[in-house]
Amino acid sequence: MKIAVYPGSFDPITNGHLDIITRGSKTFDKLIVGVLVNVDKKGLFNIDERVELIKRVTKDLPNVEVVSFHGLLIDFMKKYDANVILKGLRAFSDFEYEFQMALMNNKLDPEVETLFMMTSAQYSYLSSSAVKQVAKFGGCVEGLVPSDIIPDIIKKIKE
Ligand code: PNS
Repeated sequence: MKIAVYPGSFDPITNGHLDIITRGSKTFDKLIVGVLVNVDKKGLFNIDERVELIKRVTKDLPNVEVVSFHGLLIDFMKKYDANVILKGLRAFSDFEYEFQMALMNNKLDPEVETLFMMTSAQYSYLSSSAVKQVAKFGGCVEGLVPSDIIPDIIKKIKE
């Protein structure tokens, strides 16, 4: 059974993330979305909220599981018997950081492969940070994030 982990902060999940999750779910037997608990960075949504939002928008993908993790990604992967890290690549500018992480993860565990999926063109400019900025200043986030979670973002920004 081929189990992959798609790791990230997902604060919040965007349509770009959902596109990779949907395509990844067709590529692997099981896809685990690993949501990083970053104690150094206060996000818009707390970790349980992020997990809940992702679960909500992936409920129709039966081989997708959503789990939070802290510490090293490699340790999380071992726990779930996964040996592929799935990452999305949007632009050339993503490459250097992703290349470094892929090599570091492979150094920590040579059994682990990082596979990159090119983002779909219509989402190549999308990021969670950009979505938060647009929402913060009252812009329209329709089409940027799954429509199911737009009320959650607007409510959270107002808090
Ligand atoms: O969505 P993000 O913030 O770009 O995701 C980054 C993430 C979660 C993939 C990365 O920070 C990560 O894997 N963190 C876990 C810590 C770790 O394993 N570091 C070693 C590799 S450099």
